[in-house]
Amino acid sequence: MNSTRRRITKAVVPVAGLGTRFLPATKATPKEMLPVVDKPAIQYVVEEAVTAGMSDILMVTGRNKRPLEDHFDRNYELEETLARKGDQDKLARVCAPTELATAVHYVRQGDPKGLGHAVLCAAPHVGSEPFAVLLGDDLIDPRDPLLTRMAEVQARYGGSVVALMEVDPGQIHLYGCAAVRPAGDGDTVRVTDLVEKPAPGEAPSNYAVIGRYVLDPEIFEVLRRTEPGRGGEIQLTDALRALAVRADAGPVHGVVFSGRRYDTGDRLGFLQATVRLACEREDLGPEFRSWLGEFVSRDVLVPVG
Ligand code: G1P
Repeated sequence: MNSTRRRITKAVVPVAGLGTRFLPATKATPKEMLPVVDKPAIQYVVEEAVTAGMSDILMVTGRNKRPLEDHFDRNYELEETLARKGDQDKLARVCAPTELATAVHYVRQGDPKGLGHAVLCAAPHVGSEPFAVLLGDDLIDPRDPLLTRMAEVQARYGGSVVALMEVDPGQIHLYGCAAVRPAGDGDTVRVTDLVEKPAPGEAPSNYAVIGRYVLDPEIFEVLRRTEPGRGGEIQLTDALRALAVRADAGPVHGVVFSGRRYDTGDRLGFLQATVRLACEREDLGPEFRSWLGEFVSRDVLVPVG
């Protein structure tokens, strides 16, 4: 490990997306505020960044995202009421999001011009150090420390690091897709090419980019010059591709993740995440699992009539 490299302390979380896959729930509530069991999805993401040592959080927000700011701010009225009642347990739950990160900053994206544009909005805050990007739709199980591993890989090789996961070839058109060759360690590959949401038959592999990145700040310069790509949006994948194929830029590596990931941006994935995390909870799990077992065998698997 190169000890001259700086520890990564800043994480950027793009949250300006409209969440149209969850309408009407997301008409007046940001999709990031939808609860997975009893915590909004965004809180899991911030917890993950903080656990990996990145406790300076910048959210790239948009219109109708105020509840996110309120969630990470104090709520004196609620705190005082709970303190007066002596309800320490609920008080701790109210205060947890506020006390999580050293600082949560916000910048507005303005025009929704894509993920690459959202990341570019972070440039003045990030400055000239490597930083992490976490997409809220991907929930990584807290027991599988992916981001910590990505920071280690960045410290070793420099450049940028993306999280990759092998997916069914029929699903690759939903993701950024990486062409890779082996690198030093078992879970690490060198990214040689990238394509955003390849059409069927055009994917160079079944390695999907999942929503975790550790980026070299040179990405900002590339993003400034990146033309709109897939969907008419400025794509982070296209900017990373430009770095991956350039001989004079830092390398792009991939960490191949084989742990637990939940796609909470999708209704089915959201339900799966909720059920799995609820089953594993100490407080709710035993009762929920026993109900679920009965429900599945009695009401779901037994044919009706
Ligand atoms: C974004 C990225 C894509 C990546 C995906 C991971 O797409 O553009 O490369 O694979 O996140 O979740 P989105 O799902 O926001 O359209």
